Parts: sequence; structure tokens; C-alpha cells
Amino acid sequence: MDIYKKNKTLFKLAPNLADYDKVYKDFDWEKVYGELEWFEDHKINAAYNAVDRHLKTHRKNKVALFFEDEKGDKQKYTFEELANISSKIGNYLKTLGVDRGDRVFIFLPRIPYLYFSFLAVLKIGAIAGTLFSAFYEDALFDRLENSQAKILITNSDLAQRLKTIRHKLPHLQKIVLVDDPKFQTEVAKSSESLHIAHMDPDDYAFMLYTSGTTGKPKGVVHRHLAILSQHLTAKYVLDLHDEDTYWCTADPGWVTGIAYEILGSWSCGVTSVVYSGRFDPQRWYQILQDYKVNVWYTAPTAVRMLMASGTQLVKKYNLGGLRHLLSVGEPLNPEAVRWGIEAFGRPFHDTWWQTETGAICIANYPVLDIKIGSMGKPVPGLIAGIIDDKGNEMTDGMEGNLALKKGWPSMMKTIWHRHVKYESYFVKDWYVSGDRAWKDKDGYFWFIGRADDVIKTSGERVGPYEVESALVEHPAVIEAGVIGKPDALRGEIIKAFVVLKPQYSTRLKDLNFLNDLKEELSRFVKKHLAGHAYPREIEFVDKLPKTRSGKIMRRILKAREMGLPVGDTSTLEEY
Ligand code: WT7
Repeated sequence: MDIYKKNKTLFKLAPNLADYDKVYKDFDWEKVYGELEWFEDHKINAAYNAVDRHLKTHRKNKVALFFEDEKGDKQKYTFEELANISSKIGNYLKTLGVDRGDRVFIFLPRIPYLYFSFLAVLKIGAIAGTLFSAFYEDALFDRLENSQAKILITNSDLAQRLKTIRHKLPHLQKIVLVDDPKFQTEVAKSSESLHIAHMDPDDYAFMLYTSGTTGKPKGVVHRHLAILSQHLTAKYVLDLHDEDTYWCTADPGWVTGIAYEILGSWSCGVTSVVYSGRFDPQRWYQILQDYKVNVWYTAPTAVRMLMASGTQLVKKYNLGGLRHLLSVGEPLNPEAVRWGIEAFGRPFHDTWWQTETGAICIANYPVLDIKIGSMGKPVPGLIAGIIDDKGNEMTDGMEGNLALKKGWPSMMKTIWHRHVKYESYFVKDWYVSGDRAWKDKDGYFWFIGRADDVIKTSGERVGPYEVESALVEHPAVIEAGVIGKPDALRGEIIKAFVVLKPQYSTRLKDLNFLNDLKEELSRFVKKHLAGHAYPREIEFVDKLPKTRSGKIMRRILKAREMGLPVGDTSTLEEY
């Protein structure tokens, strides 16, 4: 096994977490409550802590957000501007009748209004939900219906995707278009002085829908106190210092963009860069160079794509500002870590967490050597373990369920309207992650895979059931089974096994027909569900392996696809 040794004499800045073992051992959440600003009666507000509290400090006129889009539009906002604009939007939302606890969803690409709106919703005590801008009507409907969202903040382009579902959403009172001059005038007219809602630490702040093996996506709900975990991990793991310029490449449609592009990172008072545009190696290096980015948080798929663009390209840029590199979302291959060292002179630090955990849980730290290929060690304040299905800890070196002792600040508070489902995540006093892993004798954790059928494609989590449901809506399809197929670049790609109606299946000998139909089905899923969640591979089959009760056995589809033994088939219907 390879170890990347840190030469501490070369550190440009002393890491915030200087002694991992000591801080971990002595850690007590109560002792770090002072990292946040509290109102009287033990109340807080996460958005106030992320932004507004800095107005009383030297950070008031500091740039909080450098924004740039694909076309080259550039904008910048100080902490004071962020606070004021979000207050105005907060007041405007109040005039629409938004109350504490109401769900306000935001369906926007990564433009400044997304960030302003998110902060505004939290500041007035409502619950913010984010919707990834690649979603289409099926994905939007499931989320807006389940959450009973009252207001949707979007733009005139994306709003088109709601036309066919609007009439089925009785709770949705208003769609706010941020590019509508009327909205902009209303906001401009609104007062900058806003009463910030004093929230109980347990009150809900934001929610995100995420996929499991079965059923519709689930609304993972986080409380205001989650910002304590996010702040502390931004400080200890991302190692954010006041003078840093920081770039997180995630979208707030997913949890990374919320925790480390809005709440935790701004709470640490850093200047953040947001780039809204497609992935492009040259453009990315240009951003790292132009803004003199010091800390960079990205995803393994992006690292692999940069790797594919070659080491010569990266050497053309002056990236001397970079101090700390991290990734999240899927396994970070040892090759990618080694390439990072070659290309940037420093390794990517893997971090592990989930939508449900709300903040980084297991990580590699600036101060610790990296065992290349490992996810690292639990963050201070968290106990991680490998357990069997009954909740007993396993001996080191054994594969088991990756679990966390429940009760840290950013642990999800509930699954929206499905509290029984929520309870099912816990065994004894453990939160069970759904990942399989093992721990070595030094306390480093190593990822093995998912315990369920959840797919990770380019770091994004996709539930097979959602894709199967979208496919069967197509008139040619009887049923479909969907799996994640290992892929060198994307980690996994979505592969669908599809059973066609006879009038279609009898025509498959015609290769043009077959290829057109595959393309048509991919496009169909893209346009109804989500631009990123479509099958890149489709195989037509006569029947799908099923249990006697009729459940599709994706495990068997996957084993067959990979040429592996199919395992226990005793519950399988004859096929
Ligand atoms: C799942 C959670 C919260 C960050 C974005 C993803 C996988 C996450 C790693 C890692 C291997 C990882 C797991 C996890 N995952 N980080 N460092 N190594 N796998 O959040 O969409 O809720 O997905 O992503 O399977 O359960 P998410």
C-alpha cells in the first residue's frame, strides 16, 4: 500500500487541525457551540451564521462570491451585499405569505439568485429545497408534490418544464421568475432590514431529495444546527482560512453545494468562486489560475476527466496558489491521487459523506499522511464503525456496514412525511449508511461499495427505480431493470435492460430500428426525468430475473453483466 507522507515543514499555512488525535480524543460538541453566533434563548439561524454575522467584522466588505458563467459574465458580491439582497428577497417572500416551516423550492442553474434565494428562505424560517437544473417533469413532480412546496423560485426558461404538472400541484401557490422585471422591481423595493427568524437548533432548515433502491426519492430534512458540523468540517477538513479563495465545483441541487458552497464555507468567512458552466479542462484551469484558488473541492469524475486531458495542459497554467485539494462523491482511485501529485504537486484528499449525513464524516486531513485509496478517518465529533446487520462492531479488516454513532449536528432530522422510513436507517445507536467498507488497524476506512442498488454516475446518486419508472412510461416498453455498470471515467454508467412489447421486439432484427429505439428511449428518460439520469446503455431482453413476489433482481442483472457468479438464486422465480 502506498502512503503519501506530509512534509510539515513545507506547509504554507499552519493547518486548522494541527493535532488530529488530540482534537479527536478531547472533542465535545458543546465546547464548539461558540463557533456559531447564538441569539437569546439558545436560538440560531444557519443563514445568519453563514453570512450576516460577518457584517460585524472585518469581513463586511470582503468579497463572498465571485461568479462567472460560461459566456464570461462576471459578478461579485461582498458579504454585506449577500446579506442585504437575501434580506430583501426574504421580505418579498413574506409578502407572498411565506411562513415559518413552509417549503420554498429553488429550481435554478448556478446563478447568484440561487444563492440569494437559499439564504433568504432560511433567514425567514422557511424550509429551502433545491432542485437540480437538469430535472424534468417527472423528477420535479415527485419532489414538489411530496414536499407540498408553496413557492417555487425559478426562471422563465426552466419554468416551461412545469407546464404539464402545474395543475397537479395544488399546494404550489406561486412560481417566482427571477428573470422577470416585475420580480426584480419588487425585490429592489423591499426593505433591507429583515427580522431574522430565531430558530430552535432542531427546526428544519433545508431539504434534499435523494434516491434509494426502491420507491420514489426521499426528502432528507436537515435542521439549522447542521451548520455546526458544516462549519467545523469546513474549518478542519477543507482547512479554510480567512485569506483563502475557495472553489467548490458542486451544484447546490446536491448536498455538497449547500454544505460547502453556502453554509459551512461562508460561515468560515472565505471568498468563494462559483462557476456556472459545463465541464471543460481549460476553463477550469483558467479559473484556478485567475482567481488564485487556494482550496479546491471537486469530484473524482472531474479529476479523471482532467487526467484524461493530459498533464501537459495543466502545466501551462500557474496554479501556484493551490494549497489544498479534495474530492467527494465516489471512490477516488489511487491513480487519480497519484496524478494529482504529478499535476498539482499535491494529492487530492478523499472525503466521505452523504446527503443524509449533512457534512463530511470521514476524511483525509492536511496534517495526516494519506493512505492512498483510503477515505481516511472520522472527523472529530463522530464515531464511525463497521458493523454487522445486527449492529455489532466487527473486527478490524472485516467487511461490513459503514455506520456512524447517531447524534451529530448535521445528521438528518427526518425523511419528509416518512418518519417510519427514517427510523429504519438506525440499528441500535448506529446510523447505517448503506455503504460497505472496512477499517484497518490504524483506524483508516476503506470503501468497498454500496449495499443496495443505488447508482453513482459521475458522482451523482440515481435510484434505479426512478429510471425504470420513466422507461415504462414509453409506449414500447413493458418493463425495465436498471443497474450501474462500472465505467472508467464516470465511476458507473446507467444501463437498462428493457423488455419490449411484441410489436416492437419482433422488429429488432432491423438494426436501424434497434438503434433508433435505443436512442429514443435514452432521450425519453432525459426529457422526462433528468438530463443526467438517462441510460447510456440499453439492452433489449425477453424477460427480467424476478423474485417469486415479482421484484426485479438487479443484483442478478449486474452479476451477469459483469460476468460474475449470480450468487444465491433461491428466491428467484424460474427464468
Ligand atoms: C454516497 C452518498 C455528500 C457528498 C456527495 C454525495 C458515495 C460519497 C464517497 C467516497 C466512495 C463515496 C457513497 C455514499 N460516496 N463519498 N469518498 N468514496 N464513495 O452524496 O449523493 O448522498 O451520495 O456517495 O456510496 O453513500 P450522496
